[in-house]
Amino acid sequence: MVQFNQLLNNRFAIKIGSIAIFISFFIFLPDNIFGQGQSQVKGISRDMTLNDPKIEGIISKMTLEEKIDMLHGNGMFTSPGIERLGIPELKYTDGPLGIREEISKNSWNSLKLTNDSATFFPAGSALAATWNPEMAYLLGTGMGEEARSRGKDILLAPAVNITRIPTGGRTFEYLSEDPFLNSRLAVGYIKGVQGQGVAACVKHFALNNQETNRGSVNIIVDDRTMREIYLAPFEAAVKEANVYTVMAAYNKIDGSWCSENDNLLNQILKKEWGFKGLVMSDWGGTHSTVKAAMNGLDVEMGSTRNAFLGQPLLDSVKAGLVPIEIINDKVKRILRVRFAVEPITPAGVVSTPEHGKIAYKVASQSIVLLKNADNLLPVDLGKIKKIAVIGDNATHKQASGGFGAGVKTRYEITPLEGLKSEVGSRASIQFARGYKPAFIWSQQVRGRRSPNNKIDSTLLAEAVSLARNSDIAIIFAGTNRDFETEGSDRSDLKLPFGQDELIRAIASVNPRTIVVLVAGAPLDLNEALKSSSAMLMSWFNGSEGGNAIADVILGNVNPSGKLPFTFPVSLNDSPAYSLATFPGDNNANYKEGSLVGYRWFETKNIKPLFSFGFGLSYTQFSYSGIKTDKGKYKSNDTIQVSMELKNTGKREGDEVVQLYVHRTDSKVEWPAKELKSFSRVTLKPGETKKVTLSVPVSQLRYWDVKSNDWQLEDGEIQLMIGSSSSDIILTKNIEI
Ligand code: BGC
Repeated sequence: MVQFNQLLNNRFAIKIGSIAIFISFFIFLPDNIFGQGQSQVKGISRDMTLNDPKIEGIISKMTLEEKIDMLHGNGMFTSPGIERLGIPELKYTDGPLGIREEISKNSWNSLKLTNDSATFFPAGSALAATWNPEMAYLLGTGMGEEARSRGKDILLAPAVNITRIPTGGRTFEYLSEDPFLNSRLAVGYIKGVQGQGVAACVKHFALNNQETNRGSVNIIVDDRTMREIYLAPFEAAVKEANVYTVMAAYNKIDGSWCSENDNLLNQILKKEWGFKGLVMSDWGGTHSTVKAAMNGLDVEMGSTRNAFLGQPLLDSVKAGLVPIEIINDKVKRILRVRFAVEPITPAGVVSTPEHGKIAYKVASQSIVLLKNADNLLPVDLGKIKKIAVIGDNATHKQASGGFGAGVKTRYEITPLEGLKSEVGSRASIQFARGYKPAFIWSQQVRGRRSPNNKIDSTLLAEAVSLARNSDIAIIFAGTNRDFETEGSDRSDLKLPFGQDELIRAIASVNPRTIVVLVAGAPLDLNEALKSSSAMLMSWFNGSEGGNAIADVILGNVNPSGKLPFTFPVSLNDSPAYSLATFPGDNNANYKEGSLVGYRWFETKNIKPLFSFGFGLSYTQFSYSGIKTDKGKYKSNDTIQVSMELKNTGKREGDEVVQLYVHRTDSKVEWPAKELKSFSRVTLKPGETKKVTLSVPVSQLRYWDVKSNDWQLEDGEIQLMIGSSSSDIILTKNIEI
């Protein structure tokens, strides 16, 4: 009999341990946790196979019925253990923004508890804008600790799908348009979560890049693109972060649902990558019994009654259609996760001040300065005495809204609250709502939300009058969580709810107009840029979002976020729109191949509005002295590139140095630029630091469809260092 009680008695020890680990994050981070593709994971996550002998013993004592019972949910967010053998059920929780509130066992209805509020952590695109795997790690530790204290075993995060279309409804939950950036962040995040003794679940595997028709669309993609772009973050999650669980996506690939896709689940994930944990379906995303069971799905979630992997599977095994070895393998995988994650009863430590600090730290590194004409920012309270704060997003809470997982947050500081508390009595702050977010439901096409763009004239007049009588106007525009949502994509990138008109009107009466965008995805800022002097991109930035943006506006924090995706001038410039492959009907044909995001813009020489990796600062940096450790490299080498970065301005600041590669004499087709390394560096005014970036040569391989394997092409490679994908400052050629 398995002695879980003993483990439960150790709960106190586990808790103390986790607090100690948590404190140590602020002192030093474990070496090598964010390895750049080659480094081995240091034992933060446990080796899932350690208990295999014990697990074999348990399986040998189980009846077929007990085994089948473990392979599907027995509630919305639980899957069964084996009561007779004392093995507890697995408890799951969403999701990327924070630990979801408790819902009833068999429906999505809230249980309306009072002890399940959580920290609202910055959303995926905010985290990605930090370009900082340490922030992903910290955020992961906070999420992991909150999941643990609520007694959860599996956290349904991170969501790492590539931002293929700028209008994607879940862009805010996902990370970026680049597989390398996503991989680094996913690895940090998962290690943070699993270091707290909770299983992470990397999702949605794979190619769930649009919400439109997500439950039926078939993705057509060539193997090279699939490997290099779309599977890369998942591969890193498995191989480098030892992720315990994977969620299969809703869509089909090559005609086969992801939850029953032999190539994806059996061949690539389990055989080739050596994944030892469990594959679950997305909620309600299972479509068959024998196919799903044979092709790699281990646990069916979201279907509590009449599950495909319930009675029909039992019947199929009895009928000889599914061998018992297949069932045993699934049970083994589930038990590996069960043993890697000790079951605990909720300890009640939720949403601590330390987690608020993590949320603040991430938020403060994520904010992107897009424009700062005449150095209008930071706001100088020595000169500015009357501040007009305008726009619904100044007071709009973003922890929940729309469809899908949100957070019942313990608190959320809005931008207006953040500004008021930071400014105090140093200036007067008046607020006008300016616009009202509303939708035209009758015009909803294919589930896409249509914003009502007609501005309310009374709100507009109030805002204009306030701006006219103020020293400065700060407009909080953007989207909100009702507009950017799971289940639907946006029909365009336009600022919704009449905001362009509002910004124009405010700027015409007050030339000192700052626009702050609260959103999770690219926006069409052509109009807004014409009238505003300064612009900041804030995000769905968590419980502390309002404090972070106030600190950036007032200059207590120097903005250092970099865009995790391209903002096109026009939606039709972006690849899937240009090739008219979005949304597709039954099929979405990824004809652009690997030219996703900036890869497309750089290769086709299309100038975007804002490039991937772009972000200004209140200080300036100069780049010089690029050097490599060698001129010629072999396949097992790591290229070490160094350069000198100097802060030439008057404020301390962080810069994210980015390294892209370009093949100069290639026979194989490549995008013009590909991100291969980056580093966030803090510099005092006048300070110079040597920055070293490493690129394992193996990271320069391509997926060769003929040999069905990774291949390295010899030849010359240009290393390009810069401050965004389009702003390359230093180059050096090397040979492979
Ligand atoms: C989403 C998943 C989520 C699951 C459970 C699905 O609709 O796609 O990301 O984890 O629901 O809430």
